[in-house]
Amino acid sequence: MPDTIDRSPSHPSRVAVVGVGNVGASFAYALVLSGLASELVLIDRDTRRAEGEAMDLAHAVPFTKPIRVWAGDYADCAGAAVTVITAGVAQRPGESRRDLVSRNAAIMGAIVPQVAEANPDGIILVTTNPVDVLSYQSWKASGLHPSRVIGSGTILDTARFRSLLSEHFGVDPRSVHAFIAGEHGDSEVPIWSSANIAGMRLAEFCTANGLTYDSAEMDAIFARTRDAAYEIIARKGATYYAVGAGLLRIVEAIIRDQRTVLSVSSLVDDFYGISDVYLSLPCVVTRDGVERLLRLDLSPSEAAGLRRSAEVLRTMIDDLAADAGAGAGT
Ligand SMILES: NC(=O)c1ccc[n+]([C@@H]2O[C@H](COP(=O)([O-])OP(=O)(O)OC[C@H]3O[C@@H](n4cnc5c(N)ncnc54)[C@H](O)[C@@H]3O)[C@@H](O)[C@H]2O)c1
Repeated sequence: MPDTIDRSPSHPSRVAVVGVGNVGASFAYALVLSGLASELVLIDRDTRRAEGEAMDLAHAVPFTKPIRVWAGDYADCAGAAVTVITAGVAQRPGESRRDLVSRNAAIMGAIVPQVAEANPDGIILVTTNPVDVLSYQSWKASGLHPSRVIGSGTILDTARFRSLLSEHFGVDPRSVHAFIAGEHGDSEVPIWSSANIAGMRLAEFCTANGLTYDSAEMDAIFARTRDAAYEIIARKGATYYAVGAGLLRIVEAIIRDQRTVLSVSSLVDDFYGISDVYLSLPCVVTRDGVERLLRLDLSPSEAAGLRRSAEVLRTMIDDLAADAGAGAGT
């Protein structure tokens, strides 16, 4: 249907998805059910896959709200409020993490300039792992202002954390205010110092409700949060529904200009001695992307954990640059 599509750069409710596998299709389905957007374009190297998903999703529209869904190409990103990038490859048996990073970085390097060229005013939302490193690389490759290139970061880890805390404390997860900072990965940091329910720190909440605050149990909840992806992948091979819902929440904040505070990955500059990496901190998300990072007070151990996480990410960024340099010379 390309001839019928208006490519003018003034479609606030167009959303593009690049990579319509498990995560991309789950997000697309959530978006169709939400009624948030009026146009959804699906782009994938596997064009038949994108076409099949577009057909299937279009057939859900009579049960939801009007939205035009089609399989397109990069030119169709023009005017999209957000382009969500979930294209990537999985680890091959025996493949090192570093080689996987290089392969996914090569994929992003091919995709991002095309998205930015078609849509220099849109927001790019990266999900492909390792998401913090690839968000940084995407920012560099895009030529866009860093506020317009966002990584989904720890939106998912934060949701897992709130979900597990809510089970433990017996309240709605939406009433648990707590987040995970740093890398979306093994070095991520739980921010206990500000975690609260109804404005009460967790220990206070326990006292007020006749419960015992058990720090070993809290550590176990964080370990289950951090390791959730391994547990899910061991059972069903991939994780996609929760991240799809998290992506929808970020896209909603952008399209509706909600100024929502979300733990997404963005460029950090001079925070607790950290600069020039992408990692997650609570950010104000608007129609222009990340308006600002909230410079909250961390406990000394949280600050140390965040710096360690930044070092892990900096090493991965440097390794990637070294691999790219070595590749360029051969
Ligand atoms: N950040 C998070 O919280 C989070 C959570 C879950 C998964 N992920 C990541 O999301 C990514 C996608 O996971 P998935 O389970 O959907 O994988 P998948 O294999 O199901 O889908 C990947 C899709 O990308 C497409 N693709 C690959 N190379 C492409 C290219 N050059 N151009 C366009 N399309 C291309 C493939 O054809 C496929 O349809 C992975 O990197 C995964 O680790 C991130």
